[in-house]
Amino acid sequence: MTKKLKLVVSTGAGISAESGISTFRDADGLWENYPVMDVASADGFARNPVLVHNFYNERRQALAAVAPNNAHLLLHKLEDYFDVYVITQNVDDLHERAGSSKILHLHGELAKLRALDNESLTFKVDYKTKSTPETVIDGHRVRPHIVFFQEAVPMFEPAVELVRQADIFVIIGTSLVVYPAAALLNYVRAGVPVYYIDPKPSRVPQGVTVIRKTATEGMAELYDLLLKRYGNE
Ligand code: OAD
Repeated sequence: MTKKLKLVVSTGAGISAESGISTFRDADGLWENYPVMDVASADGFARNPVLVHNFYNERRQALAAVAPNNAHLLLHKLEDYFDVYVITQNVDDLHERAGSSKILHLHGELAKLRALDNESLTFKVDYKTKSTPETVIDGHRVRPHIVFFQEAVPMFEPAVELVRQADIFVIIGTSLVVYPAAALLNYVRAGVPVYYIDPKPSRVPQGVTVIRKTATEGMAELYDLLLKRYGNE
């Protein structure tokens, strides 16, 4: 049997838009009516930890009411033909629920809390969990497992490693403005095909094939194209 090609996919808020989760840039600097820097920065968390805990409690609870869409599902289906790795900036769990097996979360996960005294220690929690600055799990005070602005992105290096090994690179629904995530593209090897699905890309990097469609329409098109072009290799 021939080895499957390595398909590395970088996803952003746009892939979850059709599941009913709002994107960031489409909301004028507000995230669910809060200024982004109040709820998604280290300064904001230090200033008002109760507000930030509550904000992510609400986002976590909202996950119960949404479901993966066909774009998430097709990425899972591509595992029949390719060695698929998903690198996501999203903190939702829709790739997991669609069945993708290899997922790297660059910006953390709503479904987890993290020890304040040990950033590599995370705890899976259910959607109903309401954390506060006083919450203790296994003897540790916890915070949302979210990478805030002004913080390092510990999963960036492992993500770069994956991108360096990609035979095909796909970008879906990200504005490519938040760094370091936006820089992943720089690590694609020369000659590797790059596809970018976004109905309104804010910038189109050179050498990238753009599919100007929503995630579900674009993925349906790309799925067929990938199978036709590379499916038998
Ligand atoms: P953005 O909100 O910046 O960009 C979303 C992209 O999705 C835009 O380019 C839209 O055109 C596109 N889009 C909208 N609807 C779509 C659809 N139905 N199908 C496909 N694409 C669609 O989101 P991100 O690039 O993910 O960070 O934002 C990056 C980071 O900024 C987030 O992870 C978050 C935020 O602050 C943290 O929380 C740390």
